[in-house]
Amino acid sequence: MTGPLWKGRFSKPPSEALAELSRSVQFDARLWRQDIACGRAHAANLRNAGLISRKDEKDLNAGLDAAAQAFEDGTFRFEASDEDVHSALERFLTDELGETGARIHAGRSRNDLVVTDLRLWLKERIVGLAQGLQDLQGALLGKCKQYPDCLAPGYTHLQRAQPVLLSHHLLAHAFALSRDFDRLTGAYRRADVSGLGAAAFAGTTLPLDPVKVGEDLGFSAVFDNSADAVGCRDFALEFLSAAAIAAVQLSRIGEEVVLWTSAEFGFATLDDEFATGSSIMPQKKNADVAELVRAKSARITADLMHLLGVLKGLPMAYNRDLQEDKEPVFDAADSLGLSLSALAGALGSIIFHPARMEEAAADGAAGATDLAEALVVKGVPFRRAHEAVGRLVARWAPAFPWAAAASPIACAWIS
Ligand code: ARG
Repeated sequence: MTGPLWKGRFSKPPSEALAELSRSVQFDARLWRQDIACGRAHAANLRNAGLISRKDEKDLNAGLDAAAQAFEDGTFRFEASDEDVHSALERFLTDELGETGARIHAGRSRNDLVVTDLRLWLKERIVGLAQGLQDLQGALLGKCKQYPDCLAPGYTHLQRAQPVLLSHHLLAHAFALSRDFDRLTGAYRRADVSGLGAAAFAGTTLPLDPVKVGEDLGFSAVFDNSADAVGCRDFALEFLSAAAIAAVQLSRIGEEVVLWTSAEFGFATLDDEFATGSSIMPQKKNADVAELVRAKSARITADLMHLLGVLKGLPMAYNRDLQEDKEPVFDAADSLGLSLSALAGALGSIIFHPARMEEAAADGAAGATDLAEALVVKGVPFRRAHEAVGRLVARWAPAFPWAAAASPIACAWIS
């Protein structure tokens, strides 16, 4: 079979420019597993409806097996006329099985097929990304256990503020990641709806059973409205927004890794496996891992903006613009997955330097708030205590040993 799937109505093939513009196979080929799964479920549906024979179904499944094998081995041959993975697979079945292959697309459109493929793909990837978030939390938790008593300077405005436990600081990131996990779980639920059976957008006159197909494909629910089924991508937006928020959170961790591993801070050292050198400066040990994670957040947030822009103002139901949904979704999933595993590895093996952190935690006026509160306990109104300690800081800092400042002697001196 050559030429586009719609060639019957046309007297000429599409121009080269249009064919090039239309082609998405170079990026949607990665949906082949999902497309084959949908093919099997649809073949069963056609057979249950009496629209193809048992033998046709068996042959279609054998054809799909052969396609799967070819994709697996990297030997699947795309033809110039294959616009996308869906048309490539249908062309393959028709080449292999003739008439039988040409029966597969009854009651189905690429519009309901592509959205169902994407939903299946996303469900699987979200599970992996959620696992990646948990692995990163595990790495943070591991460090809390390794350095249970280590003090660290806590910061606001990147100025030393109050001493805290290092574990308190690390767990702040871990709790934020729990919310990212929640958001991804929500995105999973919204993705977990089958669109197959909506056909182009208005369903089909054929006696097919979308509910059974949805069950066969492992979906928890089936579309309620066929136009919405093919036209909506809010499930993808929800994934992208969860991914963008998670990526921004990772970039904040990355920023701290960059700062903390610098000579100026000296709080931590990356394991050699997660650090990089310089091609010219032999002494350099750089935190590229954290810098790249920080920068990946830019492209993941751009992926969200990309799809928001594509969807804005689209009329119901399917529009070809929707073909532009896949690259941002793939890119965000890939970039977030990489960021998560690299950061989990880097943090799992990072070495903290408790003596240096504690020195920084004890330095300067970090005990000032505690001292003011000690005065409150002694009955001084907080605003007065704050002012008195502030004056003390102005007079003595930075020489005053503030670790000792909260002591009863200092309290007595002030009152
Ligand atoms: N490749 C398209 C996509 O990714 C599916 C094709 C739908 N084409 C069409 N003319 N209705 O959305």
